[in-house]
Amino acid sequence: MYSKTLIDHFRNPRNMGRMENPDAVGKGGNPVCGDVMYIYLKIKDNRIEDIKFETFGCAAAIGTTSMITEMAKGKTLEEAMKITKKDVENAVGGLPPIKRHCSNLSADVLRKAIEKYLAEQKAKSGKKKGK
Ligand code: FES
Repeated sequence: MYSKTLIDHFRNPRNMGRMENPDAVGKGGNPVCGDVMYIYLKIKDNRIEDIKFETFGCAAAIGTTSMITEMAKGKTLEEAMKITKKDVENAVGGLPPIKRHCSNLSADVLRKAIEKYLAEQKAKSGKKKGK
């Protein structure tokens, strides 16, 4: 049912855990299944310097979130925002049809975190200019 890659990411999740003082946090989940995921980012010079995640949910939700942390680490914010659900699904070697939509939420959560960060940066620079 699950690919070897997905099982590996579920059993040995990469970059798992909470991050102290992140620059951005994204939260998402699936209210129907009850799965919840958080993505934490450290951002330096417009690049994802570090990334961590916490996912409370099924193997597919944990495996896909683990995978996106590897895909996004070191990327610029623009590059990371372009990662799609399809990219994540391909990277984990496919998802069973029943899990395809419900568990593959990490690309949205990552994008949310980055959008929030960019909006905060914009607000800060607006305040500075207003001074
Ligand atoms: Fe995990 Fe649906 S069962 S997201």
